[in-house]
Amino acid sequence: MTADSKTLNAHAIRADFPIFEQLIHGKPLAYLDSANSSQKPRQVIDAMTTFYETSYANVHRAVHVLGERATAGLEGAREKVRAFINAPEAREVVFVRNATEGLNLIAYAWGGANLGPGDAVVVTELEHHSNFVPWQYIAQRNGASFLMLEIDDNGDPDLSQLDAIARDHTVKVVATNLVSNSLGTIHDLGPLVRWAHEQGAIFVCDAAQAAPHMPLDVQALDCDFLAISGHKMCGPSGIGAVWGRARLLEAMEPFLLGGHMINSVRYDKTTWGELPHKFEAGTSPIVEAYGLGVAVDYLSAVGLDAIEAHEHELVAYALGRLGEVPGLKLYGPPADRRAGVVSFNVEGIHPHDVAQILDMQGVAIRAGHHCCQPLMHKLGLAATNRASFYLYTVREEIDQLVEGLHTVQKVFA
Ligand SMILES: Cc1ncc(COP(=O)(O)O)c(C=O)c1O
Repeated sequence: MTADSKTLNAHAIRADFPIFEQLIHGKPLAYLDSANSSQKPRQVIDAMTTFYETSYANVHRAVHVLGERATAGLEGAREKVRAFINAPEAREVVFVRNATEGLNLIAYAWGGANLGPGDAVVVTELEHHSNFVPWQYIAQRNGASFLMLEIDDNGDPDLSQLDAIARDHTVKVVATNLVSNSLGTIHDLGPLVRWAHEQGAIFVCDAAQAAPHMPLDVQALDCDFLAISGHKMCGPSGIGAVWGRARLLEAMEPFLLGGHMINSVRYDKTTWGELPHKFEAGTSPIVEAYGLGVAVDYLSAVGLDAIEAHEHELVAYALGRLGEVPGLKLYGPPADRRAGVVSFNVEGIHPHDVAQILDMQGVAIRAGHHCCQPLMHKLGLAATNRASFYLYTVREEIDQLVEGLHTVQKVFA
């Protein structure tokens, strides 16, 4: 691994990832599905194993040494996540299973209590279902309006609709992603955040695709809540985090109820624990949270600026190389406005067929609607192919993809 603030050595980084030490169908693995879930470096895998071997016990409720070690591991990870997103306080970081659970927590616990008839939730046509369906559901359940900003010809949310929305509704929530998982677009959220706050609304940032790929700063973004998933950023699955402003979290009722999240329980009344415990019912994903902390260390050592620059460089290379494939249609913005995601279709060949034949050549991509059916509907598509890159992606994998696509075309000729 190299630790240069401007560039990274993807070949050296790759050596940290044991998954690449195997052949797939006899071919080197070109893993171009990192936006779906990232691979894990040995540093994370080994640290989690060592934790299980030396420090494992339940957290917060044991006085013995292992309980103390495990609690320190969990709380140390919380502090690392706080620093990673530049949150003011560690108690504002709540561990959840994934970004989806984090967004549900916000929708149920904040939206459920604060939305009513006459109010509106605004999302965009580019949302992942995880930042769409919970808001749609809670808005409808509470009699509030659920509004979707359509995208313009550049693929950006069309902000010209905002005045009309403000005229007709009391906007209480604006919820959007920072990076689109299907097109890779990096959004400039500033105008939308300012507009949300002018309306007196909260701004919820789905950072599931942003956190792995670019520096995050909740204070600079000026959002009110933000959700991330560990498995997309070199951490284990089963862990994510939601950040919220302390004053909002404090005013909210809990999302899940049971052990650990209480202050006192009596037959007639239960009172809630302090932040973040109020939102962490039951035994925590202890080792997963610890592993996420190690992943945060790993990414920070490489440098998020360097990762972002590496992905821009790979996307530019991929857009050029994919342009050589006849009948290939690309979707999304230019390289400098997107993270490491390239969506495309090959004329006349279903994306699932493309992905399956690529797999036979060791190339892993995703084919489908990418949990973005509203966007697919807008584009008039059922599905696309998506190749996605990360800090360990090398140009040779993109070359392998392009060669594979030529083979796909021969098979279907
Ligand atoms: C933009 C975006 N939001 C939310 C999610 C949901 O993440 P998870 O499945 O880890 O909850 C994803 C996953 O692909 C995503 O890309």
